[in-house]
Amino acid sequence: MFGAEVAKVHDTLGRPLGQLRLSVTDRCNLRCRYCMPEEEYHWLRREDLLSYEEIAYLAGIFAEKGANKVRLTGGEPLLRQDVVRLVAMLAADPRIEEIALTTNGVLLESCAGELRRAGLSRVTVSLDTLRPERFFALTRQDLHARVLDGIRAAAAAGFPRLKIDTVVMRGVNDDEIPAMIEFGRTVGAEVRFIEYMDVGGATHWSPDDVVPRASILARLQASYGSILPLGENDSAPAERFALPDGTALGIIASVTAPFCSSCDRSRLTADGAWYLCLYALRGFDLRGPLRRGATREEIAHLIEDAWTARDDRGAERRRETRVRGPLVPLENLRRDPHLEMHTRGG
Ligand code: GTP
Ligand code: 5AD
Ligand code: SF4
Repeated sequence: MFGAEVAKVHDTLGRPLGQLRLSVTDRCNLRCRYCMPEEEYHWLRREDLLSYEEIAYLAGIFAEKGANKVRLTGGEPLLRQDVVRLVAMLAADPRIEEIALTTNGVLLESCAGELRRAGLSRVTVSLDTLRPERFFALTRQDLHARVLDGIRAAAAAGFPRLKIDTVVMRGVNDDEIPAMIEFGRTVGAEVRFIEYMDVGGATHWSPDDVVPRASILARLQASYGSILPLGENDSAPAERFALPDGTALGIIASVTAPFCSSCDRSRLTADGAWYLCLYALRGFDLRGPLRRGATREEIAHLIEDAWTARDDRGAERRRETRVRGPLVPLENLRRDPHLEMHTRGG
């Protein structure tokens, strides 16, 4: 019913306002090499963090404007206290059709069932290796078994379309591509291989570390034979393929084949800055107007005006860059934590 009433807002490239990624905290309990490799970080100010009521209120306005699918991200979203309550609040809003979660899985085991009952629709767990010692080297935490338990708990809780995200890095975990597929099969999860991106936070990124989609496919072919493209053409970042036995997998080729032309996603940081692109250097402050008492209509207009003027295609522009290194120098990340991948939710 609501879906039929929503008039979609389109940007300058004809892309509708779509998936909203809600980062609920910038904190994380892992230190993945491609995301949080530094020793120290500048965190968002506690008093600036949106309350669950504020997040749900803004999400409701976004849904009215057509962004009726939300994804909770972080940092690590399960670190935020009682995130189940936020899921229940979002689930109670009839305008919001789907609530997904991207998590590192460390805290998932004990709350998977509760999240499902609260109305969470889908879960994606990040997992880059099946080897505990490698996990430790990649994340600086000895928590590999907890992540595997978390994934199994999500499968047992009955989440449909469970996914595992694997960032593939040359010489680090690119020998585990078939092993990840096998693990995915055992837990009923679809594995997605992600090209290592030069986003904020990836301060050690170099083009040499990227394993391009073509090489990922070649490795899969060597192990399984012909790989069939499933040819679905939607706004999701992953291109899906099937192995000869029908096992589905995804590849997110944001470096070599960006999906900017169909990108309908935007992201709200935990302190209410709204970014229209993963690569955007500036966001729109929604916390300010909200706390100064702007009306629902005023906030809705702000959102509509910003989206209508959107011309971002960050990943495509990066591909056009000749000499490519990390996106943001470390000093700038220190000055503005909003530029970090862990602040804007991956
Ligand atoms: P669904 O496809 O709806 O399941 O979700 P998703 O793929 O958005 O979820 P997830 O959080 O697992 O994101 C997967 C990966 O896609 C991230 O790790 C990023 O590498 C990439 N990604 C997500 N959002 C963007 C974006 O806005 N731009 C680009 N270039 N890459 C993105
Ligand atoms: N390149 C690709 N993916 C990344 N993520 C974090 N940093 C990077 C990067 N530099 C991914 C995580 C997680 C998602 C939220 O973002 O692995 O799956
Ligand atoms: Fe790793 Fe996600 Fe934490 Fe970044 S936010 S360090 S990708 S688990």
